[in-house]
Amino acid sequence: MPTALAAVLYESKKPLVIEEVEVLPPQVGEVMVRMKAAGICHSDLHVMKGDLPMPCPIILGHEGAGVVEAIGEGVTSVAPGDHVIPIWRASCGRCDFCLNGRPALCDMGTAMRFTGTMPDGQTRFRNPRGDCIRHYAGVSTFSSLSTMPEAAVVKIDPEFPLWKAALISCGVITGVGAVVYAAGVTAGSSVAVFGAGGIGLNIIQGARMVSAVQIIAVDKVASKEAHARQMGATHFVDSSLSDPVQAIRDLTGGRGVDYAFEAIGQPQPIEQAYDSLKKGGTCVVSGICRGDARAAINVNQLVYAEKTLKGTLYGSARPRVDLIRLMNLHRSGHLQLDELLTRTYRLDQINEAYAALERGEVARSLIVWD
Ligand code: CU
Repeated sequence: MPTALAAVLYESKKPLVIEEVEVLPPQVGEVMVRMKAAGICHSDLHVMKGDLPMPCPIILGHEGAGVVEAIGEGVTSVAPGDHVIPIWRASCGRCDFCLNGRPALCDMGTAMRFTGTMPDGQTRFRNPRGDCIRHYAGVSTFSSLSTMPEAAVVKIDPEFPLWKAALISCGVITGVGAVVYAAGVTAGSSVAVFGAGGIGLNIIQGARMVSAVQIIAVDKVASKEAHARQMGATHFVDSSLSDPVQAIRDLTGGRGVDYAFEAIGQPQPIEQAYDSLKKGGTCVVSGICRGDARAAINVNQLVYAEKTLKGTLYGSARPRVDLIRLMNLHRSGHLQLDELLTRTYRLDQINEAYAALERGEVARSLIVWD
């Protein structure tokens, strides 16, 4: 039985346990991936803290890139040795969501996210005591080997560096996608981005890529300004010092912005993003809040000001197509990736990596395997 070193969550609010686990070989329609890079993303932290409850034990990690180690019966789209990006919302390709270009909403991927199992209801991880360990989002990238459905991998160019592919797999596609696919920001627009972290920086660069002319980054950590400007922000508002809604009004001649994005995952910045819109503007929420969170908005502004409030998952993208497009955008010089990576860690340093993320020290960090 193949074994892997994995970071296992046994209980929320407790550190991840690094241990050797057994990884069952891929069954019919499944692939086993040897991970080469995995992203340290806030969504996993929500599970660790218990804000988004998941059955334990579970191997978290949803961003990553790796090499196909083995394939199960009936797998045709990849072969051992192929480089792949795991898709953290696998999609069946046949349901109305998939056929309408919204694969992130596919019931198959959604179910795996909540059950922590493969589509057959079983898991492919065992700890040394023989207990089943669950999968996170069907991909569990915090394991050196992970078995997942064929529907959860997309083959990529082997020349493309895997650490860059891992960055694209979540933060980049979610942020740039929020701008391009969810909001449809047009050239010449004004944009406000609440939160200059892993997703927010990519919303900022997405806005730059589509030629938004005013890109106002809002964050309560002043040290994020330089990075925000590097990705394309034209202005920075320190929300610990002043009311960001007023600051955005002041910067837009009192009118507000055409598009406002929330990339923090808290009710207050969602309300502020909505309030900072110009008449006819669109507010897009990409941050993941606690499961019980509510935000208060002025509903009459939906009518009198014709505001739009919407959410976006996975950048409202079609990962099979758009991950490849994003790689091409990087090659052509439009998409910055090197600038996003703050730090790399070994898997056994993962608790330290999350502590640094919580302290706001890093934009994006990666676990890397040689
Ligand atoms: Cu993520």
